[in-house]
Amino acid sequence: MKKLVLASNNAGKLREFSALLATVDFEVLPQAHFNVPEAEEPHGTFVENAIAKARHAAKLTGLPALADDSGICVEALGGAPGVYSARFAALGSNEPKSDARNNEKLIADLKDKRDRRAHYYCILVFVRHADDPQPIIAEGEWHGEIIDTPRGANGFGYDPYFWLPEFGCTAAELASEKKNAISHRGIALARLMERLTSRR
Ligand code: IMP
Repeated sequence: MKKLVLASNNAGKLREFSALLATVDFEVLPQAHFNVPEAEEPHGTFVENAIAKARHAAKLTGLPALADDSGICVEALGGAPGVYSARFAALGSNEPKSDARNNEKLIADLKDKRDRRAHYYCILVFVRHADDPQPIIAEGEWHGEIIDTPRGANGFGYDPYFWLPEFGCTAAELASEKKNAISHRGIALARLMERLTSRR
């Protein structure tokens, strides 16, 4: 099996990515396994941050690398929180990130806004080495609406407020297998797999 470094230490992502990438003969190892420190994410777009993370991990390990970047974009807020989704409520301060405070801020910012459309976005970047001029880039979007009252206990982040009209529930009310199959990350992963298997 070929080794691949995942530019994340998130256990859930490691599990999900490992299972799929094993089918194309990659053994996925988290960057912590190689003592790779987290890369800076200074950019204003998801794709730039994901490329920076993948390149950083590949450079420090000498292995092919996979990075992801994701967040939620709300129409009435001009695409915010966007790349700042994880630290939305703590931006510009030293406070630790908090899903509860992020959601509180999101609902406050949307007070009096009638347009509740939002989408999750995920981008995956695979590089064969740090200077790969042709990274594989796969993206996924998952559309829904923001509601004011949370529902459901699954998922994480903004999921209890992310309403899916076609299912009549929030993302936090979906079983995790169902969410993984249809979410922004699921779509991006399926596209990445397609690209990896068709690359010669
Ligand atoms: P990261 O790309 O894993 O760092 O995620 C960035 C942030 O986007 C997370 O901390 C969440 O706030 C938000 N986010 C990304 N994907 C999801 C999701 O599937 N559900 C809920 N929140 C998400």
